[in-house]
Amino acid sequence: MSRSVRRVPAVAVLLALVLTGTACDGGVRGTPGASGLGDPYFPRAGNGGYDVDHYDIALDYTPATRRLTGTAVITARATRDLSAFRLDLAGLRVGSVRVEGAAARWSRAGQELTVRPRDDLAQGETFRTTVRYSGTPRTLTDPDGSEEGWLPTADGALALGEPVGSMTWFPGNHHPSDKASYDITVTVPQGLQAVSNGELTQATTRGGRTSYHWHPAQPMASYLATVAIGHYDIARTTGPHGLPVLTAVDPRQARASAGVLAELPGILDWEEYNFGPYPFSSAGVIVDRPGDTGYALETQTRPVFPGDQFDTGTLVHELAHQWYGDSVGPASWRDMWLNEGFATYAEWLYDEDHDGPTAQETFTRLYEGDHEAVWAFPPARPSSAAHISDSPVYERGAMVLHKIRQKVGDDTFYDIIQGWAAARRHGTAGTAAFTAYVEKKAPERDFGEIWRDWLYGDGKPDRP
Ligand code: TRP
Ligand code: ZN
Repeated sequence: MSRSVRRVPAVAVLLALVLTGTACDGGVRGTPGASGLGDPYFPRAGNGGYDVDHYDIALDYTPATRRLTGTAVITARATRDLSAFRLDLAGLRVGSVRVEGAAARWSRAGQELTVRPRDDLAQGETFRTTVRYSGTPRTLTDPDGSEEGWLPTADGALALGEPVGSMTWFPGNHHPSDKASYDITVTVPQGLQAVSNGELTQATTRGGRTSYHWHPAQPMASYLATVAIGHYDIARTTGPHGLPVLTAVDPRQARASAGVLAELPGILDWEEYNFGPYPFSSAGVIVDRPGDTGYALETQTRPVFPGDQFDTGTLVHELAHQWYGDSVGPASWRDMWLNEGFATYAEWLYDEDHDGPTAQETFTRLYEGDHEAVWAFPPARPSSAAHISDSPVYERGAMVLHKIRQKVGDDTFYDIIQGWAAARRHGTAGTAAFTAYVEKKAPERDFGEIWRDWLYGDGKPDRP
């Protein structure tokens, strides 16, 4: 600090303090919370100064006009004294903001909605913010060129949120490090369905509109929230030990999807055997039209697939994410390989157990083949936000896991991956926590070379 200080008489300072003191309540005098959490790839994602406990989101959507009206009630806990805080929201029009029932001042700049509550918030205080909003939700283009956010479809819409698209349909703390519980109610014209995460607790029709109330019962990162609106063939079945399974398939995809859909319970069974207990209280899939999105996404309890990518391998991958990525979430977007490396390795393991190539064969094929893209950057250090879903994160991430397996043998390896899912269940973790966990599970082994060359090292490691 090098600004010049003008001396002010002590009495004047005291007087000023007393005057401002009377102007605000209870003596709490906070400062504004930060506009981001400093994520290495998405620095403005999420916000400082609070932690969300619960989102109660009510949406009303009409596909014909693409108009959405929403109310988000956000229950959060202040992590320090706050005079103002931010929510991430992209597009839409804010009608009003209330904090603890009192009208709050607010302003917008880019994706930041800044809220100034009438009274400052004290550290540790739980406070409720109600945001009313409306408009036509946006589709965002990611640094890697893919589309996310609110995607209109032929008969409805599909909300996809990785990494930051959920801010197009509800205001919140949109960073994976802040998980919360949710209630999601979606009202649509009668005759259409609205599918979301978790369990359907209520569906009521009144005045030509149907409201679907969904409850994801376990903690969820906002990028894993989804809403699918349209016509769907909905089926309820059960998975291992009575797990409720709800599948929603676009009728035009029904025939082509039937075979893969029938594999779902068996895959869940196989994954439980290998990864440990399924982490959520329901499961399922959403299969929508081909070409609408171009990619599948591991939305919690109910991953989304474009019809043309609903194949066994992709289903194994997205279901594996329920353990690795959804239940054990990444601490930041730098830790993406903990999601994608695990889900990709799950595909290799599934092949190995189902008369396909062994994981060693897949590893060798990648190492020896002409796959330059795999070596573009280290899995734990993507070169930029545009590359967090590139091959080094997926394939080379899986190769890191295979190297660990080679080093410790199968018994310890399965112990590690199951133990990791159990230890961090419904939480988040970064790469350093994972490597420390592996070392703790196999203290007699030296992982130095694997971490140095395979996880953090530039270029292709010299030896397979
Ligand atoms: N996570 C998706 C998968 O299962 C892929 C993906 C979709 C993705 N959108 C993304 C990855 C955005 C990173 C960023 O493979
Ligand atoms: Zn994935």
